[in-house]
Amino acid sequence: MHSDIARVLYSYEQLEQRIAELGAQISADYKGKSILAVGILRGATIFYADLVRNISCDVRFDFMAVSSYGSTTVTTGAVRFLKDLDTSIEGHDVLIIEDIVDSGLTLTYLTEALRQRKPASIRVCCLLDKPSRRKSPLVPDYCGFQIPDAFVVGFGLDFAEKYRNLPYIGVLKPEIYL
Ligand code: IMP
Ligand code: MG
Repeated sequence: MHSDIARVLYSYEQLEQRIAELGAQISADYKGKSILAVGILRGATIFYADLVRNISCDVRFDFMAVSSYGSTTVTTGAVRFLKDLDTSIEGHDVLIIEDIVDSGLTLTYLTEALRQRKPASIRVCCLLDKPSRRKSPLVPDYCGFQIPDAFVVGFGLDFAEKYRNLPYIGVLKPEIYL
């Protein structure tokens, strides 16, 4: 384990097992359809790669980037598009794939913005959810795990761009970010 990690919340094996379940559920729900999987850079990349390999429907890839917290751990509420999609989503079944829903402000803004582009449907799949910190009424359609209010890293999630490559979800030691 990395020395900046207080404890492991979910091991690689636990994550893979849950992602396989999510993939099976999504495959059943979208049976016969084609999914436009929209990954939110950069945190969702690892989850995205594992999830799409567990989906049996046709999947097309696209990615977007929105402003994140930078090097602090609290939200500013301001969301900026840093990179837009490369493809049109009009008429497509869009599945937004995100690493974690915290205040919910990012995904509320994003889903509203994408809805203007007239997709056939739009759903949200997140690996982690911290419902206790919600500031908007967003409820993900698919969620890997609900977690308590702790700052977590690994499996794509970062603090100041570090720890994304850890193969597990761990709670960061508070002395690292306080
Ligand atoms: P929201 O708008 O507050 O829901 O922000 C969600 C975004 O905040 C996620 O996509 C992450 O980039 C970041 N975030 C929130 N909580 C954590 C955490 O515990 N670890 C790492 N990043 C987090
Ligand atoms: Mg993110």
